[in-house]
Amino acid sequence: MGVNMPIIETLGPQARYAMPAPQARRAPSRFPILPMPVLEWNPDVERETAHLYERIKNVVPSVEWPFFAPYVSAINRLKKERNAVILAHNYQTPEIFHCVADVVGDSLQLAREAAKVKADVIVQCGVHFMAETAKILNPDKVVLIPDMKAGCSLAESITGEDVRLLRERFPGVPVVTYVNTSAEVKAESDICCTSGNAVQVVESLGVDKVIFLPDQYLASYVASQSKVKIIAWKGSCEVHERFTGDELRRLRESDPSVQIIAHPECPPDVIAASDYTGSTSGMISYVREHQPKRVVLVTECSMADNVSAELPNVEFVRPCNLCPHMKRITLPKILDSLVYMQEEVWVDPAIAAKARRAVERMVNLKS
Ligand code: 13P
Ligand code: SF4
Repeated sequence: MGVNMPIIETLGPQARYAMPAPQARRAPSRFPILPMPVLEWNPDVERETAHLYERIKNVVPSVEWPFFAPYVSAINRLKKERNAVILAHNYQTPEIFHCVADVVGDSLQLAREAAKVKADVIVQCGVHFMAETAKILNPDKVVLIPDMKAGCSLAESITGEDVRLLRERFPGVPVVTYVNTSAEVKAESDICCTSGNAVQVVESLGVDKVIFLPDQYLASYVASQSKVKIIAWKGSCEVHERFTGDELRRLRESDPSVQIIAHPECPPDVIAASDYTGSTSGMISYVREHQPKRVVLVTECSMADNVSAELPNVEFVRPCNLCPHMKRITLPKILDSLVYMQEEVWVDPAIAAKARRAVERMVNLKS
């Protein structure tokens, strides 16, 4: 489309809020604590996990596998015992993404899959807003996150009260909220979106103006792709805002054939310097389809490892920015989650009911 409508206004605080980490709840009593499995590297574990190591051998050195394999084996066994399913975001490390996850994807795929889960327990390997989304869509299931402190700078940039004030200031203008927000913020919104469907969601409303929260850069990306006018918020992702157009231009100068693909949470000059922009799964599909010789994934660092494990012929140039929140999730913490049924994500049922409307409206949009 490329209409380049301006953002009408960008509101919000300059600094991020220091929000307290969400509180964990005690494990429900219908799930007793299980004995901690013995974790040892032995010929049985080696044999049982060999096919899994095969998937990641290009990115995980063989000397590290004897540490990971006992956890992988124990987690996969406990998942069956608990009737649990592991949902993992594309930013999880390869031993989680390729060896214990049942479903992997971007936020949209994880939300869609969360809505279909049949298991009793969901372990969300991602950040807190993703686990909350899974809980909102599955109020009767137990949703666990291996580390309750796995937050997100976008989710922390805005509160439900901020949304109520915006509605007062712009009466009648619909609120489109990125899923990278708390349940309280979703509850104040008309519809949610992800980086994979933001333009589609904004245009589905049939209006000429929306309030788009809270990522100012995703907002400008949407504004560049749509005629709808945008009132934005000053939130940003602490990982993607660190990339610069200059570093990408330098990379391209040193190798004009390199493909640069960027996440829409990046600043506009980064997106302008890229060949393709899309959600994390959109970026992965682009690499699978085009199989470029050299590629830069302008996003969180672990994703390049996950795709590289699958496509060893593609060379990944790695300007490496890690998400400290995503990296809180580790195999030992996932095992603890399944043994102790911790940490359970809880959403106030009244807030969850309102937030569910906004999430389901997005999930039910025809793609
Ligand atoms: P995706 O929905 O594209 O996976 O993005 C989620 C996220 O947190 C990106 O930083
Ligand atoms: Fe949040 Fe950015 Fe981390 Fe994604 S990468 S979870 S947007 S802080």
